[in-house]
Amino acid sequence: MSEESGEEGRRDVDSRDKPRSDGGRGLAAARERDRTDPLAKVATRFDVPDDCYLDGNSLGPASDEAVAALEHVIEEWRTLGIRGWTEGEPPWFWYGERLGDRVAPFVGADPDEVAVSNSTTVNIHTLVGTFLDLADGSKVIVNDLDFPTDHYAIRAQLRARGRDPDEQLVLVESEDGRTIDEARVLQAIDDETAIVFFPSVLYRSGQLFDLEALTRAAHDHGAFAGFDLAHSVGVVPHDLSTIGVDFAVWCHYKYCNAGPGAIAGLYVNEAHVGAMPGLPGWWGHEKETMFDLRLEYTPADSAGAWQIGTVPIFAAAPLDGALSIIEDAGIDRIRSKSIELTEYLIDLTDERLTDHGVAVGTPRVAERRGGHVALEHERAYDLGAALRDRGYVVDVRPPDVVRVCPAPLYQGFEDVWRFVDTVETLLEGDKLPSVDPDSVT
Ligand SMILES: Cc1ncc(COP(=O)(O)O)c(C=O)c1O
Repeated sequence: MSEESGEEGRRDVDSRDKPRSDGGRGLAAARERDRTDPLAKVATRFDVPDDCYLDGNSLGPASDEAVAALEHVIEEWRTLGIRGWTEGEPPWFWYGERLGDRVAPFVGADPDEVAVSNSTTVNIHTLVGTFLDLADGSKVIVNDLDFPTDHYAIRAQLRARGRDPDEQLVLVESEDGRTIDEARVLQAIDDETAIVFFPSVLYRSGQLFDLEALTRAAHDHGAFAGFDLAHSVGVVPHDLSTIGVDFAVWCHYKYCNAGPGAIAGLYVNEAHVGAMPGLPGWWGHEKETMFDLRLEYTPADSAGAWQIGTVPIFAAAPLDGALSIIEDAGIDRIRSKSIELTEYLIDLTDERLTDHGVAVGTPRVAERRGGHVALEHERAYDLGAALRDRGYVVDVRPPDVVRVCPAPLYQGFEDVWRFVDTVETLLEGDKLPSVDPDSVT
C-alpha cells in the first residue's frame, strides 16, 4: 500500500467510524487506548517493514538495539579477531551462559538453569534424549496438533534407543481439530510414561496449556515434563522453576525479535544439572577446563552443559540487543497488553466478520490463549494474499487458518481495528484473488 493510498484509506475509515463506533470498539476508542498505552512508545524502536505487521509469531522485526548489537560484534571481529573470545565486551566465550542469565527471568528460572544455544529442534533432540535416558518409563506423550519438528526429533531419539516410535510415541488427539482437551492428556499419562512433551501454546490455534497441571500429572506418575515454549517466550511469562518443569526449549526469533535463525533457548531444572546431555559437545564441557582438551567429557555445572558446538555469535548478538526492549517493557506489561489486543481482535471479529464466514479458532478465555489469534475462513489462502497486497502481513496455516498476531511491542489497537476493517471490506466486496496454496509460505 502506498503512502497515498494509506491516507485515502484513512479518510475512508474515519468517515465510517461514527456510525460503527459502539461499545468502545470504534476507531476513536482504539486511538484513545493507544494514546494511554504505556508500551506505545516502544514501537519506535523497531523497523517494521510493512504497513501493518501481524506476523511476529513467526518472525519478529528488527530493532535499533538488535542491529546495534550485531554491528558491535562484527566490529569486534574486525578489530579483535580471535581475541574477541576473551576480550570482547562481553567476552564471546560466555555468550550462551550470559544471555541465558538474561532470558531466565522471562521463563521464571534461575540463571544457571537457562542457556541460549543451538536451534529449537536441536535442543529438543538433546533434551528429549537426556530425559529418555533418565526416565523409568519409555513412552513420550505428545499431541496431534504439535508443530511437526517436535515429532521428527522425538521419533529419532526413540529410534536411536532401539525403540519403535509407532509404539512409544503416544498421540493425544484433538476432538475439534483446534484444541487439545487437557483431561485427555491426563488420562494418557501412566506409569509407562517417560516424558510428557507439550507445547506451551499450539502453533495454529494459539491454545495456551496449563503447564503446572501437566507437570504435576507427569510427576504423579514418575514421568518428566518438558515443554516447547516457541510460541510463548517473550509474550507470556512463565514460572518453570516454581512449578518444577523438568526441561524446556524455545526460539528467540518470534516474540523476542532476535532475527531469522536466531540462537534458541533451553532450560533444565537444577535437579537435573549434572546429567549427561543427549548430544554432548565441547561447548557444554565445564568451561574452566574445556581447553585442557581432555577426551573425557565433564559436563558444565549448569544448563550450559546442553550447549553443543561453538556459540554462533552472529546469531546470538541480536538477542543481546532485543532483550533490552523486553526488559524495559516488562514481561507482565507485555502479557497484559497482548491479552487486551487479542481480546479486542476477537470481539471485533465476532462483531464484524462472523457474517462473512470468519470464525475464531482460539480459546476465548484469556488464560488459555497465547499471543496470536487464529481466524478461520474457507478461503484463508486467498484472504492472506489479499491482506498482504494491502500491507497487512499475516500467515496462513492449512487448512483454513489465518494467524493474526498483534504483537504488544509494536502494534496497537488502531492496527487491530484497521485490520478487521480491511478484512470486512475484502469479504464484503468479494475482493479476494484466487491463489495456489502451494505458492504461499
Ligand atoms: C512450536 C515450534 N517448535 C519449533 C519450531 C521450529 O524450530 P527451529 O527453530 O528449530 O526451526 C517452530 C517454528 O515455528 C515452532 O512453532
